[in-house]
Amino acid sequence: MKISNIEFPDKPLFLAPMEDVTDPAFRLLCKQFGADMVYTEFISADALIRSVKRTEQKLNIYDAERPVAIQLYGREPEAMADAARIAEESQPNIIDLNFGCPVKKVAGKGAGAGLLRDIPKMLEITSKVVKAVKIPVTVKTRLGWDDDSKIIVELAEQLQDCGIAALAIHGRTRSQMYKSEADWTMIGEVKNNQRMVIPIIGNGDVTTPKRAAECFDRYGVDAVMVGRASIGKPWIFAEMKHFFDVGTEMNPLTFDEQKAIIKQQTLDAIQFLDERRGIIHTRRHLASTPVFKGIPNFKETRIAMLRSDTLDELFRIIDAFNNPDNSNIYI
Ligand SMILES: Cc1cc2nc3c(=O)[nH]c(=O)nc-3n(C[C@H](O)[C@H](O)[C@H](O)COP(=O)(O)O)c2cc1C
Repeated sequence: MKISNIEFPDKPLFLAPMEDVTDPAFRLLCKQFGADMVYTEFISADALIRSVKRTEQKLNIYDAERPVAIQLYGREPEAMADAARIAEESQPNIIDLNFGCPVKKVAGKGAGAGLLRDIPKMLEITSKVVKAVKIPVTVKTRLGWDDDSKIIVELAEQLQDCGIAALAIHGRTRSQMYKSEADWTMIGEVKNNQRMVIPIIGNGDVTTPKRAAECFDRYGVDAVMVGRASIGKPWIFAEMKHFFDVGTEMNPLTFDEQKAIIKQQTLDAIQFLDERRGIIHTRRHLASTPVFKGIPNFKETRIAMLRSDTLDELFRIIDAFNNPDNSNIYI
């Protein structure tokens, strides 16, 4: 499978863009465990144009994580084109446009999934950005605004006509936010549409190796994008790849191996940011990680772990967990 001139192995797995989650440290870890492409957190076009420092830092990408997509969101065609030109200077492999974010502060202002209510504007943004940069432009969106407007099959053709190089579809509407189950049937419909020639990336509720394999086999997508299931568990990509290659589940990592990964991620985040911000960024992963699941009376310690604001304190808490037989404790 190829997106423009970027070649991917069979059954590629992509790390979904996630705000406050897909910082460089996490992207690099996911890459190490087999993610075939990673995305930055979404980046505000307006903030980029205003040269907001914190936003500019999100453009920092590293050779070891390639191929990497920088994702942008915004609602004005000119601003999105200007922001894409700025982002292109960081030399990502792809510029991805976010037309799927459902949260009020974004969609309510007409950006992200808000553009599903103004398709002409979405298409104008897409065409302008495609023309503004030399690198491939992709789009990530949802099935439609709500149950009465699941327009993705027609929209996919329109976006393709604007010149995008691939389309990622999250199998929910904006109204669903993150509730109920992702519907992959419409993703399959887009993929099976004879008019579609660009790669289709399926996304939504892929949490196990078996489900990932099923999504490729049943819906024929060109790539599967994994989001929440990777938070606190970047090795999920290795588990999925193992299942594709061998057809059986990978031996679970030991407790110590999992702890070591979480600690390394913390150290990396601190190196890329600073101690305070690195720890804050890692909290999201610590809160979701399955590593400590099943530990008796864990609640108090979990609270302390998520409150600790120095590396010493955090590692002291993590190191205090011992699992005598060093097996995977949550199976
Ligand atoms: C914490 C969080 C942050 C997210 N931030 C973004 C984002 O910045 N850009 C985007 O396109 N989608 C974002 N999403 C949506 C995910 O990319 C993905 O589409 C969604 O979580 C469904 O996939 P999953 O079931 O594999 O998690 C975010 C999701 C979560 C949970």
